[in-house]
Amino acid sequence: MDRKKALAESISKETNLDPEQVLSLIERPKSLSLGDYAFPCFLLAKELKKAPPAIASELAESITLPEGFSGVTATGPYLNFALDRALLADSVISEILEGNGVENKSEKSETIVIEYSSPNIAKNFHMGNLRTTLIGHSLDQILRAQGHNVISVNHLGDWGTQFGFVYAGCELWGKPEDPTVDQLVELYVKANTLRKAQDAGEVPSEDQDKPDVNAMAQEYFRKLEAGDEDATQFWNWCVEISNLYLDKLYGRLGIQFDFTLGESFYRDQLEGIEQYLRDSGKLEESRGDLGMDLGKELGFVRIFTKDGRSLYITRDIAAAIYRNDTYAPDKILYVVGNQQALHFKQLIEVLKRLEHPVAEKIIHVPYGWVQGQRTRGGSAINLSTFLTEAHSKALNAYQNEVTVKPEGVDENLVAEAVAIGAMYYYYFSQSNPKDMTFTWEKALTFQGDTGPYLQYALARLNSIERKAEDEEINADPACNRELIADDASYEIVSQLAQFQDALDYAEKDYDPHHVATYLLSLAKTVSKSYKALRVIGEESELATARLTLFAAAKQRLKYGLGLIGVPPVERM
Ligand code: ARG
Repeated sequence: MDRKKALAESISKETNLDPEQVLSLIERPKSLSLGDYAFPCFLLAKELKKAPPAIASELAESITLPEGFSGVTATGPYLNFALDRALLADSVISEILEGNGVENKSEKSETIVIEYSSPNIAKNFHMGNLRTTLIGHSLDQILRAQGHNVISVNHLGDWGTQFGFVYAGCELWGKPEDPTVDQLVELYVKANTLRKAQDAGEVPSEDQDKPDVNAMAQEYFRKLEAGDEDATQFWNWCVEISNLYLDKLYGRLGIQFDFTLGESFYRDQLEGIEQYLRDSGKLEESRGDLGMDLGKELGFVRIFTKDGRSLYITRDIAAAIYRNDTYAPDKILYVVGNQQALHFKQLIEVLKRLEHPVAEKIIHVPYGWVQGQRTRGGSAINLSTFLTEAHSKALNAYQNEVTVKPEGVDENLVAEAVAIGAMYYYYFSQSNPKDMTFTWEKALTFQGDTGPYLQYALARLNSIERKAEDEEINADPACNRELIADDASYEIVSQLAQFQDALDYAEKDYDPHHVATYLLSLAKTVSKSYKALRVIGEESELATARLTLFAAAKQRLKYGLGLIGVPPVERM
C-alpha cells in the first residue's frame, strides 16, 4: 500500500479522526532531516482541550508505526515521521534498475482513446495546434506508462467548407504548379479575406469583378459531399500536399498515431447519423436548418444545414459513436483548446439526449491560448518556419552556453534534440489551462527550468557513469543500502520515490506539467549532490553504492524525459 495512506490509517486509528481527513492534512516537512511526512495536531486541540505540542508528544509515544517507517518525533505542534531510509533506497533502486529502463506496469486497467493534434489541413499548423500536439503526445505516453490500453487518434480537419475557400482561391487566382502547404494556406486566406470584404460591402476596386466567394466555397463543399468527381480530385490534391508536410512535422516531433482518421473518414456514416437523429425524434428545425435546442446555456445547435451539408459537430457525433463501437473505450479524451469548450459541451449534451452511452465517456482536456499564435497581421505563425528557427537558435545556445564539450560530439544532432526538447518542456512548464507566451530565449537556456537543463543533467550523469567505468566502478543493484542513507543520498532516494505521485497527478489532471516539474526537481537534487556524493576516489563499497544511486537517477530521468517528449541526449 501507498506509504502515506498507511500512515494516515495509523494516525486515524490512534486519534479517531477520519482517515481521508488525516490524509489531506499530511504534509511534507520543510527539510528531509525532520522526516518524510508531517502531521499538524491543531485540529485535535479543540477536541482534546490540550495544546497541540502536548498532543504531539503524547501521540509520538503511543502511535504504532506502519511498515516501512523507522521513527516518529514531536517537533512543536507537529508529528514528524521518518521512513526507513535503507528500505526505501532498496525498493527504489530495485524497481528502477531491475526494470531495465522500462517501468511499464503490466495490468491494463482502462482502454483510453486519446484524440490530439487534429489540425485543419489546408489551414496553417500554428502554435495552438502545437500545444495539443505536445500535450497529447505526452499524455499518450504517460497513460501507457500507467498501464492503460491507449489508442491515439489524429482527427484531421480534412473535411468542410474550408476546402471550398482553397478551391475558390485556385479558381480566382490560379492553381500553383508545384504547390506547398503555405501556398494553399495563402489562397485560403486570400479567398477568406475577399469573402469578408464582400460581406462588409467593402470590396477593393481590383476585386469588384469577382463572384461571391462564400457561395463558391459552399457550392464546392456541397458537391464534394455529394461525391462529385472533380471536387473529389481537387480535395485529394490538397490532402496529399498536407500529408507530406504533416508526416515530416510529426517525424520531427517524435510522434506516431495509432490511427489518423480525419473528419472525411466519417462522410459515409453521415446519412446513418441523420437517420439515427430523425428516428430519435429529437431533431428540430430552425430556419430550415436541422438541429437540437439544448436550452438556455447551450443554445440551438445546428447539425445539418438547409442544403443538407454536414457540420463540424455532425462529424464529431459520428466520430464519437464510431470510436465507442470500434474500441469499446472507458474514456475518450479530446485534447483541444479551451475556445472549443462550448462545442464539447454541446456534443456531450446532444449525445446525452440521444441516450447514447458514449456521452458519459467524452472528456474535453482543454488548454490555454499561446501568445504568439498569431502574427501582428492576424495570420497564424507557420510552424515549419518556427522550427527551422529553433534549430539554429539551439545550436547557438549550445555553442555559447556549454563551454566544455565532449570530443567528437555531433553539434547538429545535439542542436536538433535541444530544440525539440526545449519546446516540449517549455509547453509543460505551465499547467494546461494557463495561457502562455512562447519565447525561444526562455525555452533555450541551459540554466533555467528548461528542457536543455534536463538534457544536460542527463548527459552529466552519463559522463559520471563513463568515468567511473574507467576506474572499474560499476552500478550494482545489490550494493550496500546503509551507505546511501545519509542526507544527501536520501534526498535523491526520496525524489525517486515520488515519481509515482507525479504520474498519478498527471493522470488525474490530464496534465504532463506534473511530470515535467517532477523531473526538474529530480535533476536539481542530483546536480546539487555531486560534491557531497563523490564517487571516484572513495573506498570501493561506498563508490559502488553512490554510483548505483546515480545510475538509478539517470535511468529515471531518461525514462521520464521520454514521457514528456524531450529527446534524451547521451553526451553534450
Ligand atoms: N480541427 C479542429 C481545429 O483545428 C480541432 C479538432 C478537435 N477535435 C474534435 N474532435 N473536434 O480547430
